[in-house]
Amino acid sequence: MHVSVLGREYPRDSQTNITSAIIHKLDRRLHLQPSHPLGILRNLIESHYPTFSAFSDMSPVVTPARNFDDLSFPLDHPGRSVTDSYYINKDYLLRTHTSAHEVETFSKGHREWLLTADVYRRDEIDASHYPAFHQVEGARLFHDNPNGIKEIEEDNARLSAHLASSNIIIEDIPHISASNPVQPSHDPVKAELVARNLKLSLNSLILHLFGGRASANEEEPLKVRWIEAYFPFTSPSYEVEVFFHGKWLEILGCGVVLQSTLDRANVPNSIGWAFGLGLERIAMILYSIPDIRLFWSKDSRFLEQFIPGTISTFKPFSKHPPCYKDVSFWVPSTGLHENDFCDLVRDTAGDSVEDVKLIDSFTHPKTNRTSHCYRVNYRSMDRSLTNDEANAFHERVISRLKEDFGVEIR
Ligand code: PHE
Repeated sequence: MHVSVLGREYPRDSQTNITSAIIHKLDRRLHLQPSHPLGILRNLIESHYPTFSAFSDMSPVVTPARNFDDLSFPLDHPGRSVTDSYYINKDYLLRTHTSAHEVETFSKGHREWLLTADVYRRDEIDASHYPAFHQVEGARLFHDNPNGIKEIEEDNARLSAHLASSNIIIEDIPHISASNPVQPSHDPVKAELVARNLKLSLNSLILHLFGGRASANEEEPLKVRWIEAYFPFTSPSYEVEVFFHGKWLEILGCGVVLQSTLDRANVPNSIGWAFGLGLERIAMILYSIPDIRLFWSKDSRFLEQFIPGTISTFKPFSKHPPCYKDVSFWVPSTGLHENDFCDLVRDTAGDSVEDVKLIDSFTHPKTNRTSHCYRVNYRSMDRSLTNDEANAFHERVISRLKEDFGVEIR
């Protein structure tokens, strides 16, 4: 038995969990369409880094070595598991982040680059989570010599002067701390300079994207906050949140590149930073797009609203009524991960499912069996579903629960 992915046949094995719903996303290439909101945003980001090389055409099929080992992910990291990632078979998976291309890109000799791509993660279903989304990875290396250090210092002076004269409030944290340490092989003074360059560079990108747009009142300053984070492939590491319409929203992760990544890429005597930002997250905020499924819509009422080079406010088109259906079942003794249930629903009903919620769970005191009740909301973006259509989806979900997972329906 084989599975066909982007024109290639791969043998199935016990790790294969990619669904046909996901396979059908792989050739959409939304970030390459010049008047799609994701394509517009990619262009805006690329134009902010005019000296960087920009890549956007890497295959989503990668090896676990590229996605995890190259980046020092421990062997027991949850991201590696079949419940979190889409495997074609044990040798190939869909990249779970654009960092999967770091070693490859550095080893080709690129020292300042952006890379935009579709990434895939098994996840919950709601208005802001979708198993396919897009990231932009950015990285910059400096020569670890007096010239390189001078380059950082000059760039830091230029960027901080620019930010000082802008309407932005930055809640910062120390570049380095006991819980967010400098790498043992790094000179702390140089690592601080690199971390500061990373922060200044991203603050200036955020200002470029959000400036004057974060609140109803254009005079109000843009608020950005830096938070300590952990990634297996950077240290120190940070996350960035932007205050938008009254809420803090996380938009990116970043840090000083682990020296072992650069060693694997055969880059000597260098020190640098990398970031990875989520395009849908930022686009939903900037364009006021209320539901992440809209990015995948082929409806002209969505696609014809956007103009290259500009960020406009999305005008919603009529919402159709929701259709709730419940299913209660005894969880098999081997367990049933929520992501397995969500993928089954997504594979059965496609984008006609809006959200899936666990509304009840209990364990029988005598038999010790656990029962789950999920509520599935069937609602299409483009049209009203009839009750018969929702019933047909739901019956198919129930029969696949029995066939694929040996579940006993209550
Ligand atoms: N790849 C990380 C993620 O997807 C983000 C990241 C990129 C963090 C580069 C650090 C450096 O969450």
